[in-house]
Amino acid sequence: MKAMSSAPIGVFDSGLGGLTVLKELAQRLPNEHFVYLGDTARLPYGSKSINTIYKYAEQNIEFLLKHDVKAVVAACNSASSALLSFTGKDFSVPVINVIEPASQSALTTTITNNIAVLGTRATVQQNVYEQVITKNNPKVNVHSMACPLFVPFIEEGLIEDPLMNLVIHRYLSPLLATSMDTLILGCTHYPLVKKQIQKVIGSYVQVIDSAPAVADILLHKMGSGSLIANTEAEPQKIDLCITDINSRFEEVATRFLKPLSIGSLTATQL
Ligand code: DGL
Repeated sequence: MKAMSSAPIGVFDSGLGGLTVLKELAQRLPNEHFVYLGDTARLPYGSKSINTIYKYAEQNIEFLLKHDVKAVVAACNSASSALLSFTGKDFSVPVINVIEPASQSALTTTITNNIAVLGTRATVQQNVYEQVITKNNPKVNVHSMACPLFVPFIEEGLIEDPLMNLVIHRYLSPLLATSMDTLILGCTHYPLVKKQIQKVIGSYVQVIDSAPAVADILLHKMGSGSLIANTEAEPQKIDLCITDINSRFEEVATRFLKPLSIGSLTATQL
């Protein structure tokens, strides 16, 4: 077992989406190594039952623990919803979800006390965002919208496609009638179409991507446990493990993670 502070940080998602979190973490923590697990063989998570998603999340964490990670980031809102809904199991390292940090960010941003949340069906049905937000401030109205077509479109690479814009309009139109001034991208795939979403909702609405807030929490947790890698460490390594390799993943991941470079890309089984 490696010295804890030089051990990698584990990050997982069902597919490409968690790379939005990984990129932010790797840029904010340039001395840290990362192991990323994309469970592409079982994607999408957001249309599965919460029990199934919890089982997948547990298996993903166990896989990352086998890589001697010192912390795990569940860079998936659907998995974070499941982990927050089924508390009880203690893992041997800190496990950070994306929902609490994004909610905190939104709470400090809203002025009208109207926060909208876009998410997968599982995340919206599980209602964890609303629970976390209203627990902190019962006066806030939470307007949630499931956007089940976003993930397949993004995984297909249809990011700049007119069809993507049509789908965004279709899901966001009902939210335009609310007094929202803050919109949480409650799925880690959605920051990949943030520009297109912002265009539809207008510049008045602040769009919250969980990644910066997750990086703050991770730094804080590691700092208090003396887990931060020391500055003399070797150059940063980012290893990607994918449960089903398709040709598009490598291309999109490389393009998206730029200027960071991928250390290795491995097909893996859980
Ligand atoms: N990126 C994930 C999330 O944040 C999951 C998307 C999916 O697999 O449905 O919920």
